[in-house]
Amino acid sequence: MNIRLARVDDVMGMQSTNLQNLPENYVMKFWMYHAMTWPQISFVAEDHKGRIVGYVLAKIEEESGENGDPVHGHVNSISVLRSYRRLGLAKKLMLLSQEAMASIYKAEYVSLHVRKSNKAAIGLYKGTLGFEVAQVEKKYYGDGEDALSMRLSLKER
Ligand SMILES: CC(C)(COP(=O)(O)OP(=O)(O)OC[C@H]1O[C@@H](n2cnc3c(N)ncnc32)[C@H](O)[C@@H]1OP(=O)(O)O)[C@@H](O)C(=O)NCCC(=O)NCCS
Repeated sequence: MNIRLARVDDVMGMQSTNLQNLPENYVMKFWMYHAMTWPQISFVAEDHKGRIVGYVLAKIEEESGENGDPVHGHVNSISVLRSYRRLGLAKKLMLLSQEAMASIYKAEYVSLHVRKSNKAAIGLYKGTLGFEVAQVEKKYYGDGEDALSMRLSLKER
């Protein structure tokens, strides 16, 4: 398995991984926008044939740095195909993105939203990576489920 920076021509593969895993899907221009605007903080995992089996898509919050809110990264979406799970891929993808957010953009923390019922993702964020719940956002998702808004400080790493 090879992990590398996501390129603009990966967006089809990333979207197809997403379609198989998550109810939240995005239009192609959303993927392109991220890959082109913040090209150093999104990563993909590919198999030996170059097929994308996992990705993390991240951004730097536009308003961060102003209004006293420190510059921070935000993970929009992360997904690993079912047969490649529990191999540590998501952990590696997250760590690379966090490292790049901190070193390139001087991000002070990283945020994300996760469904309250998503045990695997919460295990990854909280247990493995050390994220904490900042707040619960009621009915955040289209189907009415609550989101946990989580944060991890990137200082003193
Ligand atoms: C969440 C997801 C990305 C994790 O990917 P992964 O590559 O399997 O995760 P990793 O192998 O890096 O796991 C790292 C740690 O996270 C935790 N974890 C991962 N999957 C878990 C599960 N099913 N149950 C409990 N904890 C889990 C474990 O602590 C794991 O460490 P361990 O394997 O040493 O116990 C994957 O399950 C997925 O794609 N799910 C569908 C999409 C999704 O829900 N994305 C998140 C949206 S916010």
